[in-house]
Amino acid sequence: MADGPKLVNVRDLGDRGVKKVHTRLGQLAVGEASGQPFAVSNRCRHLGASLGEGKVTENGCLKCPWHGAEYDVTTGKMTLGPQGALFAPVRQVVRSVTNAVARLRRYRVTEIGGEIHLAEP
Ligand code: FES
Repeated sequence: MADGPKLVNVRDLGDRGVKKVHTRLGQLAVGEASGQPFAVSNRCRHLGASLGEGKVTENGCLKCPWHGAEYDVTTGKMTLGPQGALFAPVRQVVRSVTNAVARLRRYRVTEIGGEIHLAEP
């Protein structure tokens, strides 16, 4: 597998562990979770928040900055629906529909010398 374009320096991820990155594939949320680099679709499947402005949780999930939905970046699945009383009636439906038809798209990446790169085939 050859090295593709550089997306971000790992040291620039900061405390949140993720950044929004503009790429030829569109905007991606790029970061590290559980010590592994990842790149996924930037838009939350709930109401479209920028996941690159969210954060990586201690258990390695990507948390949406608006209503706290969480995603497994290794599968693209929503592991926790949107939080707060307003969304309680629809929380499970949002999660089920997302996981059935709208998981986050995942992109193959590699970490080279402290940089996360898109992986080229
Ligand atoms: S926009 Fe992400 S949880 Fe609502």
